[in-house]
Amino acid sequence: MFNLRGRSFLKEADFSPTELRFLLDLSRDLKRAKYTGTEQPRLVGKEIALVFAKTSTRTRSAFEVAVHDQGGDVTYLDPGGSQLGHKESVADTARVLGRMYDAIEFRGDRQDQVEELARHAGVPVYNGLTAEWHPTQMLADFLTMHEASGKPYDRLAYAYVGDCRFNMGRSLLVMGALMGADVRLAGPPDLHPPADVVELAADIARATGARVTVTADPAEAVADVDFVHTDVWVSMGESKEVWADRVKLLAPYQVNRELLAASGNPDVRFMHCLPAFHNAQTVVGAEIIAATGMDSGLEVTDEVFESPACIVFDQAENRLHTIKAVLVATLGA
Ligand code: CP
Ligand code: NVA
Repeated sequence: MFNLRGRSFLKEADFSPTELRFLLDLSRDLKRAKYTGTEQPRLVGKEIALVFAKTSTRTRSAFEVAVHDQGGDVTYLDPGGSQLGHKESVADTARVLGRMYDAIEFRGDRQDQVEELARHAGVPVYNGLTAEWHPTQMLADFLTMHEASGKPYDRLAYAYVGDCRFNMGRSLLVMGALMGADVRLAGPPDLHPPADVVELAADIARATGARVTVTADPAEAVADVDFVHTDVWVSMGESKEVWADRVKLLAPYQVNRELLAASGNPDVRFMHCLPAFHNAQTVVGAEIIAATGMDSGLEVTDEVFESPACIVFDQAENRLHTIKAVLVATLGA
């Protein structure tokens, strides 16, 4: 048997497929316990620091509610609300927070920052998103795909279309490889994941029996899949200046009715980590839609987003149950 107590959760590939399955099974158990009112508090007396150097709705809320459900407490440090980065290094911040807290969640720009935090903190550190990886999102995505299809994790077939070189594309590729799934990424070659990430996924796939495909052809990627994922075309930390070029590059990868139909699967479902630009009801969405004339939406059309194929709010809810599983497995008494 293995035990995840005291472990950090920094990226998917740090965990074995067996350990990831254990976290997914625990997520399902904790979800049932919450729904049936039988949840046992395992984090009583635990103090968790939530350090966000970038904004968040889901990840912050999921950590806060998960810790409260389990009887613990959180401190939220907002972007700009701590000395981190401006007046204090990651290593010094880690050594201070490690003296006060039982665990630290960190959302920031770079993976090396969260890795450094973990090296110096002396307590578990959880990656709440970096430019490179979004591991807590992967647990939610896999639980959601399993629930929606009834298929075991190694029978899932899914595509991700859009910007494949940022956190969501990279994480969906490597997590799919670890879980033995059939995972296809489609995007323009300039936005493919770096070679080391594709090689890592291919190496893992040889051991797990996964199929990993990276292509420029969105129709090839979605053929026969159960799920089509996408993400925003410009991520947090990127300059606003890149929007115009990005829209030109990625418009052929928009998730719309035609792309879902190209799956050939009438039950295909749409997924997105959120937030999504599917209409002009946000400041950024309105600005980019006005500038580009993409009235139907950006990375996903409003029609698909508001259709029964869309399961993004189940996916968002599962952030809570899966983050709770990470906390209980690594810290639970
Ligand atoms: N999906 C996700 O990480 O959402 P937030 O940025 O709102 O946390
Ligand atoms: N790729 C997006 C994901 C947001 C959850 C970003 O990094 O902004």
